[in-house]
Amino acid sequence: MKVTGLAVTAALVLAVGGLAAWSQPASKPASTQPATAKEAKKSLYDRLGGADGIATVIDDFVPRVATNPVITANPQVAASLAKASVPGIKFKLTAQVCDVTGGPWKYAGRGMKEAHANLNISEAEWNAGVADLRASLDKFHVPTAEQDELIGLIATTRKDIVMPTDTK
Ligand code: HEM
Repeated sequence: MKVTGLAVTAALVLAVGGLAAWSQPASKPASTQPATAKEAKKSLYDRLGGADGIATVIDDFVPRVATNPVITANPQVAASLAKASVPGIKFKLTAQVCDVTGGPWKYAGRGMKEAHANLNISEAEWNAGVADLRASLDKFHVPTAEQDELIGLIATTRKDIVMPTDTK
C-alpha cells in the first residue's frame, strides 16, 4: 500500500484521539456519561484504549502497589518485590489485561496460583491492590462502567491469589 502524507496524518490523528480518551479530563463526571450503542459493542480492550491505554494504567498501577504500606507490610510480598523486575511485572500484567479484555495480545506467563504461591496475600492486601487499581483508572479518567467491568474480570483470579483466612 502506498502510504500518503494524508494517510500518515490520519493515522496519527486516530492514534492520538484514541489515547486522548484516557489522558484528558472527561467533560462530565465519568459515571454520568451514557455509553452509546456503538461503544457498548466494542470490546473492553478497545474501550480501555487498547494496548497503549492499558499499558499506561499498568505503568501507574504497579509502583502504587509496590509502595503501598498495607501491601509491603507483608514480608513475603516485600521480599518478592525486592527481587522482581518491575518492568517485567508491568509487561506481564499488561499482556494479561490485554488478553482477558478481548485484545490480540496473549498472556503466556505463569498461572496466578503459581505466581502468587507462598506470598500469603490477605484479604486486606487484595483490597488495597484493588483500591490502587481504581486510583490509576481514575487518574486516566476511565469511566466507572469500564472500571467495574475490569475489576470484575480481575476478581475471578482472587481465589488463586488470596490465601484462605485459616492459613494466614
Ligand atoms: C494485592 C494483590 C497482589 C499482590 C500483592 C501481588 C504481588 C505480586 C508479586 C510480589 C509478584 C512477583 C512474583 C515473582 O516475581 O515471583 C507478582 C507477580 C505477578 N502478578 Fe501479582 N499481585 C497481586 C495481584 C495480582 C493480580 C490481581 C493480578 C492479575 C490478575 C496479578 C498478576 C501478576 C502477574 C502476571 C505476575 C507476574 C508473574 C510472573 O512473573 O510469572 N497480580 N504479583
